[in-house]
Amino acid sequence: MLRIFSASKSYAKSTFKAVDNLTLHVKKGVIYGFIGPNGAGKTTTIKMLTGILPFEEGNIEINGFDIKRDPINAKKSIGFVPDNHVIYEKLTGREYINFMADIYRVDLAERKRRAEKYLEMFNLTKDVDSQISSYSHGMKQKICVIGALIHNPPLWVLDEPLTGLDPQSSFELKNLMREHTKQGNTVFFSTHVLEVAEKLCDRIGIINKGKLILEGTMDEIKAMGGKDESLEQIFIKITNQQNIQI
Ligand SMILES: Nc1ncnc2c1ncn2[C@@H]1O[C@H](COP(=O)(O)OP(=O)(O)O)[C@@H](O)[C@H]1O
Ligand SMILES: [Mg+2]
Repeated sequence: MLRIFSASKSYAKSTFKAVDNLTLHVKKGVIYGFIGPNGAGKTTTIKMLTGILPFEEGNIEINGFDIKRDPINAKKSIGFVPDNHVIYEKLTGREYINFMADIYRVDLAERKRRAEKYLEMFNLTKDVDSQISSYSHGMKQKICVIGALIHNPPLWVLDEPLTGLDPQSSFELKNLMREHTKQGNTVFFSTHVLEVAEKLCDRIGIINKGKLILEGTMDEIKAMGGKDESLEQIFIKITNQQNIQI
């Protein structure tokens, strides 16, 4: 579903690669947790694979479509929830959902059915006709989630999605991620909340300084790190080792 081949990205005027020769494949039906410390390259990778940032080396395929050569088809396959929720504040929640549904050409009956379900789930029904500028951080996050799911995307990408959500919404979002993959879709999300990754993900990739340093199921990663260690212990050990080598 998502295939990244030796992709690298350096920002202008930067002396290092924010993402350095990254190769990573995520199969259909999987919840994949992309974890790493601040500045590791998670957001950069996500912006590359969603077609927001150009990159010089390597290729990325979404649902079989190359993000550089066939960006429209690749993007049609993605629903994206960014970390900063830069959305159209002057629109109401309903206008935003309709805008997203129009862009992805979702028919009226289908968008109504999906929007009602998600608005109810996130307790947003009463706020849907208010301007997004009046929403709290968590409400903006939730309306972004609804906008991202309105076309039922084969690949749902989220950047640090659990930051700022109340426990109830966080619970609903994790359930939605599971539900999405149960229907045969794929979820790729970044987080630094290790407990979430440990409980929720089918597979995990650990990135540090732009490089993928460990990849596998939770059991595989535990086997590599030492049996009784939590993901947190393995994570700290590995990122510290990397710091010493440099
Ligand atoms: N717009 C930018 N211009 C220059 N450097 C950037 C920019 N965005 C991120 N970086 C740098 O790229 C590296 C990776 O950042 P990022 O992908 O945001 O990491 P993460 O999401 O894992 O915290 C960091 O060293 C960061 O300072
Ligand atoms: Mg980030």
